[in-house]
Amino acid sequence: MSKKAVIFDLDGVIVSTDEYHYRAWKQLCEEEGIPFSREINERLRGVSRMESLDLILKGEAQVYSPEAKEELAARKNRYYVQLLQLLTPADILPGVTALLQELKDRGVGCAIGSSSKNTPFILEKIGLGGFFDAVADGNQIRRSKPDPEVFLLAAEKLGLRAEQCVVVEDAEAGIEAALAAGMKAAAVSAAAHYPGAHVRGADLREIGVGQLLQD
Ligand code: BG6
Ligand code: MG
Repeated sequence: MSKKAVIFDLDGVIVSTDEYHYRAWKQLCEEEGIPFSREINERLRGVSRMESLDLILKGEAQVYSPEAKEELAARKNRYYVQLLQLLTPADILPGVTALLQELKDRGVGCAIGSSSKNTPFILEKIGLGGFFDAVADGNQIRRSKPDPEVFLLAAEKLGLRAEQCVVVEDAEAGIEAALAAGMKAAAVSAAAHYPGAHVRGADLREIGVGQLLQD
C-alpha cells in the first residue's frame, strides 16, 4: 500500500516567504532596539508568531507585559502582510507546481498543514488554492509545531489516518511534528539534513513522487 495523501507545509515548501518574515521582524526589532539577525530568523521556521516573538525576546533585560507582546506581534504581522502584497506566483518554489499536478493526475490527495495564520491570504496570492483538498492552518490549532496537531487536523479533514499521509517540511519542528503524528516525513531546504526524515532533497525537484508515496 502506498500513501494516499501529501500534506505540505506552506512557508519554505510551497512558497518563499522567509525574506518577508525576516524584513518584518527586522523592522520591529529595529524600532524596539532588540537584536535580530538572519541566524535568529532561521530558528523561527515552523514556529508560531507568538512563540517566534518569545524566541526573539529571550535574554532581553526588558520585560514585556502580555499586552505589550500582543502589540508587538500584531505590528510585526502588519509589516509582514504589507510585504505579502508583493507575493505572486513567481514566488512559488521550484518543483512545486509540477509535483502538485502529478499528484492530482494520480488522484493522490493534497493538503496544507501550516502554522501560519496568513495561509488563506498567501494561497490566494499565489493562486494554488485549487490543488488542495484540505487546509489546516494556524487559525485552527491551539498547539504549534513540533506538536502534531496541525497535521492530524489535515489528515482528519482528508478523511485519512495518519499512517496514510506523508508530510513535506522545511523546518526541524515540522519534521518532529510529522513524526509525532505517526506520518512519513520528507525534508527539503533547511531541514534536508535532519536525521529523522525518511526522504530528503534540496527542493521538491529532488523528491520523486514514487519515493514520496512509498510506505
Ligand atoms: C510558519 C513560518 O509557517 O508560520 C514561521 O515558518 C511563522 O516563520 C509561522 O512564524 C506563523 O506565521 P504567521 O503568518 O501566522 O505570522
Ligand atoms: Mg516551513
